[in-house]
Formats: sequence, C-alpha cells, structure tokens
Amino acid sequence: MSAPIPVLAGDEAGNGLPKESTGPDKPVQEGAVPTTSSLSSKVWSLFLVGTSFALIFNAEYDPLLACIGFSVLAYVITSVSIPILGPDFVRVGFAGRDLGKKHRPLIPETMGAVCAVVYLTTMFFFIPFLFYKFLVTETSGGGNRDQVLDTSTLHKGRSLRMFPHSKLAEFLAALLSLFSMLVLGVADDLFDIRWRNKLLLPAIAVLPLILVYYIDFGVTLVAVPPFLWKMLNPGVESSLPPIVDVGMFYYIYMLAMAIFCPNSINILAGINGLEAGQSLIIAIFLLFNDALYIMPGRILGLHPPPPATEAHLLSTYFVLPLIAVTAALLKYNWYPARVFVGDTYCYFAGMVFAQVGILGHFSKTLLLFLIPQIINFIYSAPQLFKIVDCPRHRLPKLNTETGLLEPSRVYFESPPRGLDLFLLTALGKVKLLNLERDPDTRVIRSSSNFTLINLVLTWTGPLREDKLAVVMLGIQIGCCTVGLIARHTLAPAIFGRDNL
Ligand code: UD1
Ligand code: MG
Repeated sequence: MSAPIPVLAGDEAGNGLPKESTGPDKPVQEGAVPTTSSLSSKVWSLFLVGTSFALIFNAEYDPLLACIGFSVLAYVITSVSIPILGPDFVRVGFAGRDLGKKHRPLIPETMGAVCAVVYLTTMFFFIPFLFYKFLVTETSGGGNRDQVLDTSTLHKGRSLRMFPHSKLAEFLAALLSLFSMLVLGVADDLFDIRWRNKLLLPAIAVLPLILVYYIDFGVTLVAVPPFLWKMLNPGVESSLPPIVDVGMFYYIYMLAMAIFCPNSINILAGINGLEAGQSLIIAIFLLFNDALYIMPGRILGLHPPPPATEAHLLSTYFVLPLIAVTAALLKYNWYPARVFVGDTYCYFAGMVFAQVGILGHFSKTLLLFLIPQIINFIYSAPQLFKIVDCPRHRLPKLNTETGLLEPSRVYFESPPRGLDLFLLTALGKVKLLNLERDPDTRVIRSSSNFTLINLVLTWTGPLREDKLAVVMLGIQIGCCTVGLIARHTLAPAIFGRDNL
C-alpha cells in the first residue's frame, strides 16, 4: 500500500498559503515525532503499568476498578506507540502539512488509528472481567446450553457488579460498530473521500449496533414531558411515568445520532489540539454524569442499585478507555502538533459518544454536551449544503508576518445572488460573518468561512494557534457545564422527575 503524501496547495487550502512546501518549522527530520524519553518518564510509565495491573486484578473482582486499570494501561501503550509508529505512518503516506505554521511541516496523520486499535484491544481483554463466567451448568454437548444459572441468585456480594450474558450481545455489537468505524475512518484518511459521501460512513458502521438492538432489546419507548403525554392521551389517567412508543422513528433517531456525532467533531477542526481536546472534554463530562448515577449506589451500598445505574456503568466502561487514549494522543497533537489525529480519530470518538448515548438511553443529555458542535453544524449548513461556495479547507489562515491566525475566507467568482446573497447580507448585518465588498459597486467579493472557529476569530481578532485552541476548549467546557446543570435542574422540572 503506498498512497501519495497529501501536499495541500495554498488555493486548495482556501487560505492563500504558498503552493510549495518549504520544510519543517524546526530543523527536525520530516515525519519524525520528537519525544522525551527521559529516565523519569520511563520510571513514571513503569509505575503506571504496575498500578494498572494491581487495579485489573483487584481482590474484589470489581469490573469498574479493572476498567480503570485497563484504561491506565491503554494510556501508557498509546503514549509509547505514537512516537514509534509515526515515521512508519509517514512512509506509507499517512501524513499531512500543518497549514497553521509558516513552513508547513509534514507530520504523521491518522494517529487515531493507533488510539482505536489500543482501545479495541483493551475492550476485548476487558470482557472476562465484566461478564459472568460459567453460566452454563448442564449441557448435552455440541454447544447446547440446556441449563444455565439464574443470574438473580448471583446478584449478591462480589458478583453484584458483573454484567449478565444478555448484555454481551450489545457489548460485542458496539465493538463491531467501532471496528467498522476504524476501517472506514482509515479508508477516508487514505482516499480523502468527498465530504458528501463520507457523511454516510458512520451510518454504515453503526448498522451492527442498531440491528442487534432491534433483535435483542427492541424497546422504542421515549420519556415525554407530562403535559405532552396528556395532550397525546386526552382523558387518560395513569400513575406510570409518561412514555410514548415512537416505533421506527427511534431507529431513524439512532441513525441520525450516529451520523451527527462523528461528523460534527470532524468539522469542528483545523487547529492543533481541537479534535482531541473537545472529545476529551465531552468524554470527561459524560463520565462525570455517569458518576452521578453510579457513585451514590456504590457508596451507600444500595441493593438493588438505582434503575439507571447499569446503563451508566456500561457508558463508563466505554468512556474511560476513550479518555485514556485521547489524553495520550492530545500530548502529541497539542500546539505545536507533532502528529495529526486524522478523520479516523474524529469518527471513532464520535461513534463512542453516539453508542453510549444510544445504549445508555441518554442521547438527549449527550446532545447537551455537544452544543458547540450543534452550533458549528447549523452555522456551517449554508456551506455544507452548497448554498454558499465551500472550499476544501476552511481552517483559519496564518498571517506569516504576525504569526497569528485570522479567519479564512471564501472568494466568490461571480457576485452572489438569490438565497446566498440573502444569507450573506443577513449574517453580515448581525456580525456573524465578515464580508468584503467592492468599494465602488458594493458587490460582495468574499466572506469569512462559516465555521465557529472563524466566527470566534472575527470577534476576538487574530490569535496565536494555541490561544485560539484554549478559547475554543473554554467554550466547550462552558457549554458542557451549562448542559450538565440544565440536565439535572431544567430537565427534571420539565419531565417531572430526575432518574438519578
Ligand atoms: C474538515 C473541514 C475542513 C477543515 C479540516 C481541517 C468541513 C466541511 N471540513 O475537513 O474545512 O479544513 O477538517 O481538519 O468543515 N490540519 C492542519 N492543522 C490541524 C488540523 C488539520 O493544518 O490542526 C490540516 C492538515 O493539512 C491535515 C488536514 O487539515 O492534513 C486534515 O484535513 P481532513 O481531516 O482530511 O479534512 P476534512 O475532515 O475533510
Ligand atoms: Mg478531518
């Protein structure tokens, strides 16, 4: 396999950078990943490996502790693997030019593939620690499970925290979907698939999960606010929580979530550390939300645990290893980036989020953590749906004189008319776009690209790349905090209860 190394020309990049690459910023070998392998970092890694094994083989057989142990191990393996594999990725063509730097250095791309492989391997090894063993007590052979243990008798003592085999199908289906996403993500990084086509890649990858959900569980009930339930069922009195069966729309909704989450992370991108940083923040907030459900039951030793505990435990088991591999990736992707994450990473992380939202039945909460991605998607829509021209790259443009990033622009060959003229003028008036007009005719000649990053730059003025990344991640933290508070204050007020 040998793919050409993508060298993005200035006009393709839509930011007027010179066509020829002039070499790396610093005098390092192209594609190499500088790393610090000091004695102290080696000792630290060994300490982490020791801790991880102690947690994995904890005396309580507690899957949560084992998962933390596996995640620590995944962090160490990813941290060690990225600098080792980086040059090999460049050699086979998985490399990209850092367009935010003066000399546009060539660095390894598709490092999300390393994260995804470590993540999936971790999850495979975790299976025996999560599910009951020896459920079959009697068999006539040939794979028949004539008599199995009644798991309700196991819901005591140590085994309380283990999952029954009925959950194994959805767990494996989720892993299969993630594996499909990895393959399709690598294919995208390799072939640079057109935007309109790659939008559908997550829809293919999520099929195993949706189909197993259909045959294994098939519940299509959603909670609705009591006032809506009363409107839909006039005159009917019920003491049960208000729920509505939405049938096949539930599957369409799952598909939409699976398409939205990966793609929305992939298009809120283009500056060092943003793809991995936003995913890390979303994952930490998901974990925090899970902890609100899990910890009271564990600390107080409630039996049976609160009803939503199991769903949030499953979410925790998927999110913890993602946090680990993402933290390791971010170390190398932070400004000045030594590697790029690639579309593989954006799809993979987005698919983990979609899956925990679907399997944990809290996709509305997940959407509250994706407010910047939703805003960026809605704001981008005119370019994504080709109402306004969309250049191949919309990432901010480097001003080589000042070293600061400025909003990138789209230049119109012919004067905008009709719907695009209306949109440009309206958004320009409310300062959501920065328009450039012909001084004589007042015809619009160019506009800032329709992305949240460019909008922030329009408002703040030029920023250095790392400062811009901090501002964008600050917005992500702020939105997630508001989302979490809204979930546990406004939502109970509207739905009449919180399922904590
Ligand atoms: C999406 C965006 C595109 C944006 C790109 C940046 C849409 C429809 N597409 O495209 O506008 O320019 O992401 O990731 O919104 N790069 C950097 N610095 C970074 C990250 C990326 O210079 O910190 C450049 C590198 O040349 C890298 C390339 O972007 O090789 C990766 O682009 P790719 O992920 O293939 O772009 P898309 O996801 O298709
Ligand atoms: Mg991308």
